Amino acid sequence: MSELHETAKALVAEGKGILAADESSGTIKKRFDSIGLESTEQNRQAYRDMLFTTPGAEEYISGVILYDETIRQTALDGTPFPKLLESKGVIPGIKVDEGAKPLALANGETVTEGLDGLRQRLEEYHGLGARFAKWRATYSITDELPSEYCIWTNAHALARYAALCQEAGIVPIVEPEVLMDGTHTIERAYHVTSRVLNAVYTELFDQRIDLEGTLLKPNMVLSGYEASSRAGVQDVAEWTLRCFKKHVPAAVPGIVFLSGGQSDEDATAHLNAMNAMGPLPWELSFSYGRALQAPALKAWGGKPENVEAGQRAYYHRAKMNSAARTGMYAPEMEREAVTA
Ligand code: 13P
Repeated sequence: MSELHETAKALVAEGKGILAADESSGTIKKRFDSIGLESTEQNRQAYRDMLFTTPGAEEYISGVILYDETIRQTALDGTPFPKLLESKGVIPGIKVDEGAKPLALANGETVTEGLDGLRQRLEEYHGLGARFAKWRATYSITDELPSEYCIWTNAHALARYAALCQEAGIVPIVEPEVLMDGTHTIERAYHVTSRVLNAVYTELFDQRIDLEGTLLKPNMVLSGYEASSRAGVQDVAEWTLRCFKKHVPAAVPGIVFLSGGQSDEDATAHLNAMNAMGPLPWELSFSYGRALQAPALKAWGGKPENVEAGQRAYYHRAKMNSAARTGMYAPEMEREAVTA
């Protein structure tokens, strides 16, 4: 089996998922603002050190997505972060897109940029230890949007990114995120997510991507966050699986969901409900940012004396999501006190 296939499979190994800790400087500032902490390089290092040194997290976490600053940074003990992760059997990954920028001649839609110089950057990141990467495209839902123009332009860029990754020996995580802000129904989210996935897999095929050496990181199919009535857990699981069964080839080893603003417990419950409906053609796992980190960030609060409390909160969420990988999660498990 090729190294790409092995890496992709390892990232969705039984009971394991991915921690997305690749917040850009702007995003991590927003997260730190929520706990009243200044976003200095030192604080960012201390925060990531707390997460990555959590004892036992590697039982549930297969890989961590890093940001450019973090992949070059060291842990507090001086070990480069990628080496620290490798020493625990955790695969280092890297966010390589340069963000969603206004799409020319489109009404408020975006295209994700970062292809210029990407071949060289991937070579450097591979040298720094990265074995997988992430590129995120975003689509907003309104009555008219997203446009075909936005859908196909982003799909084309995602496939160009994926091809460059595979050439460099790096597994591309392909992340088309249909944003769930708005008042739309779950049927509308299903329809838009279907169109987006159809375009993404058409472009990946046309650009010769080896699907077995990729992972998909999508949104779940949800009602809009501001919708007057919201679909429940079982409905979300059914609509989401219906959508992915139609559009994601069985050659793809795993689908690793983003949490996208869901509460941490909702993100776990939805993943669990889908896995309980198996068997499925692909591994169904997580690549959560906020849903793995939010309680840990709050418990830590930027204070050295709270490092252990932060680590307990992170470990607990990782464990809950691991249980959701097999449909064995139950909300009562949340009561296993984080502060025990
Ligand atoms: P969330 O789980 O917070 O949506 O973050 C995942 C991610 O990496 C978004 O690109």
